[in-house]
Amino acid sequence: MVPMTTDTASEQAQMQSAYADFTSRYPGYLRTSALDQLRATDYRRLDQLGQVYLDYTGGSLYAESQLEQHLRLLRSGVFGNPHSANPSSTAITEHLERTRRAVLRYFNASPDEYILAFTANASAALKLVGESFPFSPEGRLLMAFDNHNSVNGIREFARARGASIAYAPLVVPSLHLDVERLHTLLEQAGPAGGNLFAFPAQSNFSGVKHPLELVAQAQSKGWRVLLDAAAFVPTNRLDLQAVQPDFVALSFYKIFGYPTGVGALLMRKSAAAMLRRPWFAGGTVNFVSVQALAHVLSPGEAAFEDGTLNYLSIPAVEIGLRHIESIGLDLIAERVQCLTGWILAELLALRHSNGHPLVRIYGPTTTKARGGNVALNLYDPNESLLDYRGVEELAGEEGISLRTGCFCNPGAGESAEGLTADDMRAALALGPGVNLSALTRLMQDRGRKSAGAIRVSIGLVSNFADLWRFLQFIARFRDQTRLSIKAVTYDIESCRVIRDGS
Ligand SMILES: Cc1ncc(COP(=O)(O)O)c(C=O)c1O
Repeated sequence: MVPMTTDTASEQAQMQSAYADFTSRYPGYLRTSALDQLRATDYRRLDQLGQVYLDYTGGSLYAESQLEQHLRLLRSGVFGNPHSANPSSTAITEHLERTRRAVLRYFNASPDEYILAFTANASAALKLVGESFPFSPEGRLLMAFDNHNSVNGIREFARARGASIAYAPLVVPSLHLDVERLHTLLEQAGPAGGNLFAFPAQSNFSGVKHPLELVAQAQSKGWRVLLDAAAFVPTNRLDLQAVQPDFVALSFYKIFGYPTGVGALLMRKSAAAMLRRPWFAGGTVNFVSVQALAHVLSPGEAAFEDGTLNYLSIPAVEIGLRHIESIGLDLIAERVQCLTGWILAELLALRHSNGHPLVRIYGPTTTKARGGNVALNLYDPNESLLDYRGVEELAGEEGISLRTGCFCNPGAGESAEGLTADDMRAALALGPGVNLSALTRLMQDRGRKSAGAIRVSIGLVSNFADLWRFLQFIARFRDQTRLSIKAVTYDIESCRVIRDGS
């Protein structure tokens, strides 16, 4: 039985028959039924509120038991600011260090090889690398086209210090890295060192999982490698004995939903030693003199943890890791893969009465080397784009949480949607008022191109009923035209959604 009810008996029967078909095509799903029990208890709010959550790449969902354990922990002690030797300080320090060890263990990282700095989120971890990396005119920054903006931003540090900057392009339409071109670019490391290659283990736009073998290949050609693991680690195992990037950035809420406000930068010790912090702060120094205008940074991870850590939340990271381990990451991955394979095939099969496809998917259309986030757009029978903002709004009215816009991943969008450098220059010519809605209008004028997309992402406690409801929702756009769907009351600027009051 599908563990969720829908409105009418006939809908229920339809879903049951689709479920039977699904499990015959994806029998592995039946082995993941422990997740249904978990959803019915620890995540009961989802079905009690009739919500379909499909934004796991935005953020995962927390279990009630995580909150209870965290509250119990906070109630059980007196915890003060960690930077002291008093009992409340040492009590929390013990929890912080336990959590640090637990994170290293979770990623199978040897403490002899890696150190871990807690940060506010993945972006803060990436910025630590960017601001501290020894970029120089002799060195290079090489990035994947589908990096998140929090990686793209590193180019501003590289540019300020005169390093050359290059992007490794994607192959269209699969949105995999153009491996041949990438290998040519990897041959171009500056001989004096100071070369950084940054790529996402999983694209938060297309879901493509880039080959992790690239880490060792790039290192052997003179690059330090920064792996953005934010979208990868929620549903994949990252084993830091098997692959050893110099830097790994992630946010914990993307893995287990709670707490927000805590991320990590894992650094190989030899890579951490080459970083030069541009400033110092409380907590990062062993010695500072006002008169001598000098400071000595703390050794190890302390040099990267500015000010007071989010010390009451960090112990909840250990609770979250235990939660995932008790479920089993492989079980989560299996379920995500089954549901992703099914929804990709079903979406692609949707046609208007005139035979034209309703859905265009950006990136891989099978589960090979891809994760559970799927970017798409809807088109009407005349192949005109349906406004994704309108789609998001209508989905919201049905309790379906999906995401639209550029997902802070402009390069993947530009590749997927065939936007050219000329298009982007035309957008910049709009001046300081340029934003995603202005870009969307401009690209429609310049050859009916789209700028932005709809993203659904499948995760920890997704089930068949979630995807079924989403598919029914999308199928209702069959034979609808651009003009027949509801007017948009949302505007999306700079990847943020703003309610348009006019
Ligand atoms: C691939 C990737 N990198 C980096 C980030 C930034 O994460 P945060 O906003 O938690 O700093 C995200 C967030 O969506 C992401 O998906």
